[in-house]
Amino acid sequence: MIGCGDEALLMTAFIVIKDCRLFQRFNLPERRSLKRGLRSSQFSETCNANGTNRRAFLTNGMVAAGAATIGATLLPGTSMASGREEEDHAPITKGDIAILTFLSALEQVEADLWIQYAELGGATNQGLSTIDLELNGKKIATGLAPNYITALEVLDGDMPQYIADNTDDEISHHRFLNNYLASKGAKPIDLGEFATLPPSKVSGVSQTGRLTNLKQLTVDTTWWMRYRSTIANPDFGGTFENAVPALAKGQHPAIPVDDGDLILNSDGSIPNHLQAIANTAGFHFAFIEQGGSSLYPALAQKVTNLEVLRVLLSIGGSEIMHFQTWHDKAGNATNITDGDLSFPNLNSGVDPNPNGTSVNPADDFQTNLIMPEPTLFLNAKLGPVSIIRPTSTAQGGAVASVVSFVDDGLFLDPATNKNTGIVDVLMRLAEEADEARRRF
Ligand SMILES: [Fe+2]
Ligand SMILES: [Fe+2]
Repeated sequence: MIGCGDEALLMTAFIVIKDCRLFQRFNLPERRSLKRGLRSSQFSETCNANGTNRRAFLTNGMVAAGAATIGATLLPGTSMASGREEEDHAPITKGDIAILTFLSALEQVEADLWIQYAELGGATNQGLSTIDLELNGKKIATGLAPNYITALEVLDGDMPQYIADNTDDEISHHRFLNNYLASKGAKPIDLGEFATLPPSKVSGVSQTGRLTNLKQLTVDTTWWMRYRSTIANPDFGGTFENAVPALAKGQHPAIPVDDGDLILNSDGSIPNHLQAIANTAGFHFAFIEQGGSSLYPALAQKVTNLEVLRVLLSIGGSEIMHFQTWHDKAGNATNITDGDLSFPNLNSGVDPNPNGTSVNPADDFQTNLIMPEPTLFLNAKLGPVSIIRPTSTAQGGAVASVVSFVDDGLFLDPATNKNTGIVDVLMRLAEEADEARRRF
């Protein structure tokens, strides 16, 4: 790569660019490097957008010598002959490692919470085979709360399978990112020292400490309306109402706390409290995964190395697949009340928020409108477009993701009513990831 201030290298680059036919033989990343090494005025004097020659300065012999120099020393690892853009050998930067490290840490948090859901509500079988979830070589017992599963199945008969699969995915994300970091000589991350929170006391659940607390959640459900608004994008100041206002205040369990939560009514029906726990889980699943859907594209914009970018785009896509599925299932949560917690009928055409401001509640809350509505993006003049939102650092970046998890109550220690020390570590890693900048 050509560095600014290196006059000798810039001169060599200039010699190559002066012959536009030769310039055309370089692939795009190489051309960009060459152009960046020169003042724009120098470039515009030599080649137009199509690479045709506008002014010649030097002899062909000197050009050939310059090209050889560039190919051999200035653009290591790139092949003049191949012309393949994927051969972008920008190094893995400190910023790339910070991003991968933060993502691995957050994936460990995700894996921890999904394991708790799978233990209680995950499927035990998949076709003719048993579910084979493992963490660090240790088998995870799933489906330990059959009546919780029955309540989850009210949202969709496939919920236990999806829960097991989402769990499998998060474990794989954390494991892969750590393996990838190690393969590049970087340090894998392990937040195991913060696994101190008590799990559910339902019979059979391993009483080992956990990273996350799923028993006192305050679930932000504004993601529901955010993906339906045609005029507001969180990256451009858009604000949104909750789909389940009562979930966004107070503290609510998303898993059965103990065997007492699993007792059915005398007629065998599901008590409202148990259904409310399952409904809370349904909205929490989508809350978690919409966060990942925004986080990966937000951080991808800061990545330098092409392979690291591929890692982020590929894992990020699976977060979006999760979100879309859970968005659909949350809409099937039954219209019930358990104490202060009410799950509204979102198809009533009425804004469920007290003093709601929706001008079109039918569209804003209708349960089958799960495809992202085209909305404002970049510039209103470009017209509305269907997109993931947010994708800015401020709204969807690493720090924003940690803050949303903290606000969710995931790290609350019931013994102290304070967050565990994991928050400080996650915030430090998040700040380093958000500070990363794309470099060429
Ligand atoms: Fe993930
Ligand atoms: Fe996820």
